[in-house]
Amino acid sequence: MKKLIQKIRDKIRKKRHLRLRQEYEAHYGDARVAEEILREFRRLYFYTHETTWRNTWWLGHRVLKCPLDLWIYQEILFAVQPDVIIETGTYEGGSALFFAHLLDLLGKGRVLTIDIVQKDLFPQHPRIDYLHGSSVDPEMVARVRAAVRPGDAVLVVLDSNHERDHVLAELNIYSELVTPGSYLIVEDTVLTEMAPHLEAGPKEAVEAFLPGHPHFKVDDSREKYLLSFNTRGYLQRVG
Ligand SMILES: C[S@@+](CC[C@H](N)C(=O)[O-])C[C@H]1O[C@@H](n2cnc3c(N)ncnc32)[C@H](O)[C@@H]1O
Repeated sequence: MKKLIQKIRDKIRKKRHLRLRQEYEAHYGDARVAEEILREFRRLYFYTHETTWRNTWWLGHRVLKCPLDLWIYQEILFAVQPDVIIETGTYEGGSALFFAHLLDLLGKGRVLTIDIVQKDLFPQHPRIDYLHGSSVDPEMVARVRAAVRPGDAVLVVLDSNHERDHVLAELNIYSELVTPGSYLIVEDTVLTEMAPHLEAGPKEAVEAFLPGHPHFKVDDSREKYLLSFNTRGYLQRVG
């Protein structure tokens, strides 16, 4: 008797699940509906509570990233096991510290983080080198190149000046350092959607960069959590 009741319960549960799934597909099956919801959610997220994206912290240090993207970073870092992470745009050092702590867990790797502004509040960590200057200054580029050792697995994060031409210049420079299988991550590709005063930003830079660089492909599996500020910005070097 008990078994029969359990069987009936399971059947009802399965039916309910199927119905919910069908409702979901009817509602979100059209990719445009899903994209519209995500766009609205990004705006809500971006503007809520005095801009939540500015009010996000890693162990007391501000990080200008969405936590769902930070989790993706964790998954990428584990997959790539980088020896060097090059970050353009340090801001308050929170993202560099986040990377350094993940590297601690992986037991290897260094972070080179570049910014035109140096701040006293930068968190100190043995894996982080703070580099002062512009990411596209030839002297800075030479410094970064010299810091990468032969055989190092290199991952690059572009998160400095978000104007299209600057990001495109960074893409052309730093893509050369990314090792096969690793990533070139372009942050804030959704920015033109949030900040209409910015005519062309990271998204447009990626669009200009990709056709001439077939060994980079957009890894949209890195957008699996749906909410991302780096849509079509997770570029993997495939060759
Ligand atoms: C979006 S913030 C970086 C956020 C940080 N990566 C985080 O996730 O918390 C952009 C930073 O880029 C810096 N920046 C602007 N132009 C730059 C340039 N040409 N070279 C390097 N850094 C630059 C700014 O000073 C600012 O600190």
